[in-house]
Amino acid sequence: MKHVFLLILLCHVSSAVKHSLKFIFTASSGVPDFPEFVAAGVVDDILSGYCDSNKKIVEPKQDWVNRLFEDDPQHFELYTTECSEKPLFFKARINNLKQRFNQSGGVHVLQRMSGCEWDDETGEVNGFNQLGYDGEDFISLDLKTLTWIALKPQAVPIKLMWDTDKARIKVKEIDLTKIFPELLKKYVAYGNSSLQRKDIPSVSLLQKTPSSPVSCHATGFYPDRATLIWRKDGEEIHEDVDHGEILLNHDGSFQMSVDLNLSSVTPEDWRRYDCVFQLSGVKNDIVIRLDKAEIRTNWVSPSEFPAGAVIGVVVGLLLLALCITGLFIWRRNKNGFRPANTSDSSASLSDRNSAPD
Ligand SMILES: *[C@@H]1O[C@H](CO)[C@@H](O)[C@H](O)[C@H]1NC(C)=O
Ligand SMILES: *[C@@H]1O[C@H](CO)[C@@H](O)[C@H](O)[C@H]1NC(C)=O
Ligand SMILES: *[C@@H]1O[C@H](CO)[C@@H](O)[C@H](O)[C@H]1NC(C)=O
Repeated sequence: MKHVFLLILLCHVSSAVKHSLKFIFTASSGVPDFPEFVAAGVVDDILSGYCDSNKKIVEPKQDWVNRLFEDDPQHFELYTTECSEKPLFFKARINNLKQRFNQSGGVHVLQRMSGCEWDDETGEVNGFNQLGYDGEDFISLDLKTLTWIALKPQAVPIKLMWDTDKARIKVKEIDLTKIFPELLKKYVAYGNSSLQRKDIPSVSLLQKTPSSPVSCHATGFYPDRATLIWRKDGEEIHEDVDHGEILLNHDGSFQMSVDLNLSSVTPEDWRRYDCVFQLSGVKNDIVIRLDKAEIRTNWVSPSEFPAGAVIGVVVGLLLLALCITGLFIWRRNKNGFRPANTSDSSASLSDRNSAPD
């Protein structure tokens, strides 16, 4: 259950052009075996600290958070205080909302997400503070007008009440525009070896059948500030090109692919195409020439099988051969791609195309 909740919170991939800090509080009622209150500190979409109403001590989830707490015990104290006070506060809030909605029982979830984004190139900072109830946006703070925005009719009375509390709005404004950005900069500096790292992906060409588009696939890069394009004679092309989304891998790195439809390209012209991967802040691009020998596929041409009764025998022999090279079969498992050329190394195929979190 805990995992389900956290996945819902973390699964959307932001365009990490910016660094971000999010404090996500989740209060629930009527969910058995799940803490009534869960708090998550998330830096650059990676869970960094956690606490809940059962264990009120903040748990560091990244090495750099451990180092930070060792160097600055007050920081640890600050979060621990929050973790012991917030559950009661949110319990009162959710009870209040249940009354407003005339809900006596059932499962209810109140979430607050506050934090900021910081662009380390332009220095621009954006703060946000929003609440959701039962999975829908409920109310949020507008930093331009310093008033609350009701996102549901039931939130209007709350908006009117909260708007009169100027002192509280002022505290929130300082948090969102000054305190949180300072924290985020501190965290990015502490976590620099993991958050500011640059991981170069492995890039390969994949094709399902000889008439399918050729997919240029890059996986294992970090951060997600990257481009993947097809070029013809060194110029980027857009026609017959289909860009996939950037997806998150299980290990926190990213993958993406870009397909090129080659149905109108003659074999002689193939060598004029290449696929280029570029990671922001990294000088050397990765360039893969379009070359039949480089393409990995699981396609077996039907003409390779002789017709008639022989087929049974051949298939039998083929199966035997495949069993002997059993390792090879294993490698096909998840994604169905294997090297077109059996002498190729297929070692890294198993971690390609891993399903996004
Ligand atoms: C809740 O119940 C009261 C009294 O029964 C009613 O006046 C009010 O409109 C109800 N509110 C909602 C949101 O249904
Ligand atoms: C992280 O910061 C430390 C100290 O400021 C520095 O020595 C180190 O090179 C930095 N690492 C990266 C990956 O930026
Ligand atoms: C590739 O392009 C051809 C014509 O240019 C079109 O008929 C075909 O449907 C396209 N294939 C895909 C997979 O988009």
